[in-house]
Amino acid sequence: MSPDLYEKTDIENIDLVPSTTDLSSADIELASAKNRSEKLRKVFGNSDLSKYDYVLLDCPPSLNVLTVNALIAAHALIIPLQSEFFALEGLSQLLMSVREVRDLGNPDLRIEGVVLTMYDARNRLSLQVEEDARENLGELVFKTVIPRNVRISEAPSFAMPVLSYDSRSKGAEAYRALAQEILARR
Ligand SMILES: Nc1ncnc2c1ncn2[C@@H]1O[C@H](COP(=O)(O)OP(=O)(O)OP(=O)(O)O)[C@@H](O)[C@H]1O
Ligand SMILES: [Mg+2]
Repeated sequence: MSPDLYEKTDIENIDLVPSTTDLSSADIELASAKNRSEKLRKVFGNSDLSKYDYVLLDCPPSLNVLTVNALIAAHALIIPLQSEFFALEGLSQLLMSVREVRDLGNPDLRIEGVVLTMYDARNRLSLQVEEDARENLGELVFKTVIPRNVRISEAPSFAMPVLSYDSRSKGAEAYRALAQEILARR
């Protein structure tokens, strides 16, 4: 990746390519472009990413050109699933899109897993969404669930990841457990 694209962060070994407001018009500008879904893969192909173990692409919830670019460029996909009523419906749409993306040009795109977020064990709906997800998706659903945790919602206003903001919070513990689970699957 060209060095002027990424920024160092306060965290050792993590670099960041931040978004800008320019990105909001990218969807429209790319709509009529040739090979519009392959732009990001091309950037990656022309970049030396060898010093990185992982590149994480944060996507919007909608399946626009930017998301498709990410899916075409990626090896694998982690799907956060909010523990809410319509979440599973969105998920089945996404799974169909994954199949389309495989046909479109990334046949090896793997679903790494589905992670339940904003989980509240006292809420029947959370339990229900979890049960449905595990019943329908089986092993694809990570054992780790991310609880609804106020420290997670506070962290962004200090411009910090929750692991730095409150490393011992339930939210940070959960994200750490998720990372361990992902590493253990490889
Ligand atoms: N587990 C959680 N517990 C409490 N608050 C959370 C949790 N996860 C996310 N939040 C809060 O909810 C808000 C949205 O979270 P986040 O940005 O991760 O969601 P998103 O789906 O990626 O949103 P966007 O579409 O804006 O990218 C943030 O303010 C965040 O701090
Ligand atoms: Mg987001």
